[in-house]
Amino acid sequence: MLKETDLSGNLGTAIVTGASSGIGKLFADRLAARGYDVVLVARREDRLRAIAADLEGRFPVRAEVLVADLSDPAGVAAVSERITGDPSVSFLVNNAGYSTIKTLVETPDDVIANMIALNVTALTTLSKAALVRFTEKGAGTLINIGSGAGFAPFPGIGIPVYASTKAYVYLLTKYLQNEVEGTGVNVRLVLPGAVVSEGWDVAGGAELEPLPDAIVMTTEDCVDSVMAGLEQGEPVIAPSLADTSLLEAYDGASGTLLQSMFNAEPAARYGLRK
Ligand SMILES: NC(=O)c1ccc[n+]([C@@H]2O[C@H](COP(=O)([O-])OP(=O)(O)OC[C@H]3O[C@@H](n4cnc5c(N)ncnc54)[C@H](OP(=O)(O)O)[C@@H]3O)[C@@H](O)[C@H]2O)c1
Repeated sequence: MLKETDLSGNLGTAIVTGASSGIGKLFADRLAARGYDVVLVARREDRLRAIAADLEGRFPVRAEVLVADLSDPAGVAAVSERITGDPSVSFLVNNAGYSTIKTLVETPDDVIANMIALNVTALTTLSKAALVRFTEKGAGTLINIGSGAGFAPFPGIGIPVYASTKAYVYLLTKYLQNEVEGTGVNVRLVLPGAVVSEGWDVAGGAELEPLPDAIVMTTEDCVDSVMAGLEQGEPVIAPSLADTSLLEAYDGASGTLLQSMFNAEPAARYGLRK
């Protein structure tokens, strides 16, 4: 799938959100190394310019900087237009996202709104822009970055808003995989566990006990696993998950639960029918 090219043999352009650090920066690197031109999206222009210069110095590709605040509708619109206005765009990584380690009552209202705007609204709007473009062409790859944290509440760690945004990414991306079936477009869901990045400092994790080394993956291992998962055609790529039967069981159970949720008859335990 990473070898999709147009008629002249070009891979096209990959847009990576949150490319100024961490997982997104590595994605930009690995995609440029494979021959994609890249568009680097984030707020910190100085970092993006340095990364773009580095990529253009090491690989025979173009690296463009697109400064945008994706918690702001104007920033989302700028990236949407970049996607829909350029036929060479063939790959989108919806990676920008952040967390804060606080209970809901401790989380300021503007942080709640901002996090949902970035992790949910921007990701959804940009997914739509990419799928409009890709389904017209019958080709293209959309990657949405969810999180292992989106499956269940963490005992003792207050990330209710963040984890819930990632649960949203899980379900949305599953829907999108159904929507694109048979169109030639690829939609992939990436579920990192704990990965070394500045994201932990942004979340306030620097104030916590360090996580045990045994559960924290390097950014390189995470992104290189994702690139391998893409090559293997995995629809859901979970770099830290050794036993994929757990994901299959989860999918199976949630499908069964979905079917069981709709019934005109109240459940017998409520005692409404004598
Ligand atoms: N690290 C982990 O353990 C882990 C685990 C599971 C999932 N993830 C997910 O992986 C993704 C990348 O996180 P990371 O760990 O690599 O964190 P990171 O190093 O903090 O990177 C976050 C990126 O998002 C960008 N960003 C933040 N707010 C933005 C905004 N309003 N508009 C545009 N860009 C914005 C940041 O750039 P600027 O500040 O320059 O804008 C930065 O490039 C996130 O979606 C995160 O939830 C991470």
